[in-house]
Amino acid sequence: MEAQLGSPKLFRHSTKPHKQRNYLYVGFVAVGLLIIGIAVYIVSAVLQTGDIFRYTPSFDPSSAQETVFYDLKDYMGHSDGWYRGDQILICVPLRDAADHLPMFFGHLRNMTYPHALMDLAFLVSDSSDDTMGTLKQHLEELQADKDPNMHFGQIEIYEKDFGQVIGQGFSDRHGFAAQGPRRQMMARARNWLSSVALKPYHSWVYWRDVDVETVAPTIIEDLMHHDKEVIVPNVWRPLPEWLGNQQPYDLNSWQESDGGLQLANSLDENAVIVEGYVEYATWRPHLAYLRDPYGDPDTEMVLDGIGGVSILSKAFVFKSGAHFPAFAFEKHAETEGFGKMCKRMGYSVIGLPHYVIWHIYEPSNDDLKHMEWMAQEETRQQREQSQQKQYDRVYQAGFLDVKENWDEEKPMILRNTDSSRGSRKIDVVWEDVDTFNAQPNSKLADFDPAV
Ligand SMILES: *[C@@H]1O[C@H](CO)[C@@H](O)[C@H](O)[C@H]1NC(C)=O
Ligand SMILES: [Mg+2]
Repeated sequence: MEAQLGSPKLFRHSTKPHKQRNYLYVGFVAVGLLIIGIAVYIVSAVLQTGDIFRYTPSFDPSSAQETVFYDLKDYMGHSDGWYRGDQILICVPLRDAADHLPMFFGHLRNMTYPHALMDLAFLVSDSSDDTMGTLKQHLEELQADKDPNMHFGQIEIYEKDFGQVIGQGFSDRHGFAAQGPRRQMMARARNWLSSVALKPYHSWVYWRDVDVETVAPTIIEDLMHHDKEVIVPNVWRPLPEWLGNQQPYDLNSWQESDGGLQLANSLDENAVIVEGYVEYATWRPHLAYLRDPYGDPDTEMVLDGIGGVSILSKAFVFKSGAHFPAFAFEKHAETEGFGKMCKRMGYSVIGLPHYVIWHIYEPSNDDLKHMEWMAQEETRQQREQSQQKQYDRVYQAGFLDVKENWDEEKPMILRNTDSSRGSRKIDVVWEDVDTFNAQPNSKLADFDPAV
């Protein structure tokens, strides 16, 4: 009993209540600090972001220095992105484009969207000219400009050949039979470019061809303020006077029609309809033909297929998987298929019929032949005139002059001769639209300028 009383065990037992009080005290302090900490965190979160449920991970700097966090809802694109700092990716596919680059860089420099907010991504493919060298030279000059406001954001150049399906002459590229394979290859090139160049912090993507001659420096803002997922301007091209001064250029922007759907249903599942060729008459309302030079440039038209000369798209459209089909998607490929796919995904696809940018005038082989013929014709006429003088002298010198009789008889004799022989063959490629407009009771399907 005594031994028990004097045992160290008993002595230690007597200290236990004191230690428990200490633990309790430390516990209360810890819980108090925790509550204060949480309160401070909530207050600062509310003050800083207005969003207490927002997840902001903090990485241990020693173990995760390279880790970057993006909240993707910050990059959805605003209608006034130039005020909000929306970063935009400019995607430019290039093929034998050295000649067009000086003009393109002139347009880049003139752009009013803040240059630092524009990242440039180029894809150079299948070029036999010095596209790459010319591109690098222009980029170096641009980024070395004395005016820092000229400097663009991040610049990336990618190179990849896809193989030449056909030549690069205008008629080679625009002939009907070449269109299917050509468009599918273009689609692949675009997909490579956007999938390697698009970053999480891009809010917008702007696709632009380099062979645009005239375009407003405010093109990005002009398209962006419509706040659509996908939007394109109207694209025309100037023509020489003898061809009528101007012409719709991009016939890939159109609205679906019953005729188009019927045609699509009648075709093999791998067929690709290419708009703008008589081989496929679809009776679709084309954005290009609905232009009124005096119309409101902000008028919108709902589209199904779009052309690729100048497309502004919200970046999340690509992030969520829309792309340029390199196969028949609803019987369409590339940019036309992209329009169809975006519609299918529930996105708005819009064209501006009265807002026009101008593609360069690129003479077709037919035009070139005609120009050659005109030059030959001129020398022929000059030769004929000098010969005529020679003949006149000979006639006057001693022959019976029957020239007046001939002048009278000639129209009678030649009356039934086909005078069109030898003159330029004109392919009327877009005749369906004229017929469409000529129908007094026809109505543009779903075209509502107020939309
Ligand atoms: C850029 O702007 C200048 C000055 O307004 C103009 O002279 C020039 O033609 C523009 N460049 C292009 C490529 O349009
Ligand atoms: Mg072009």
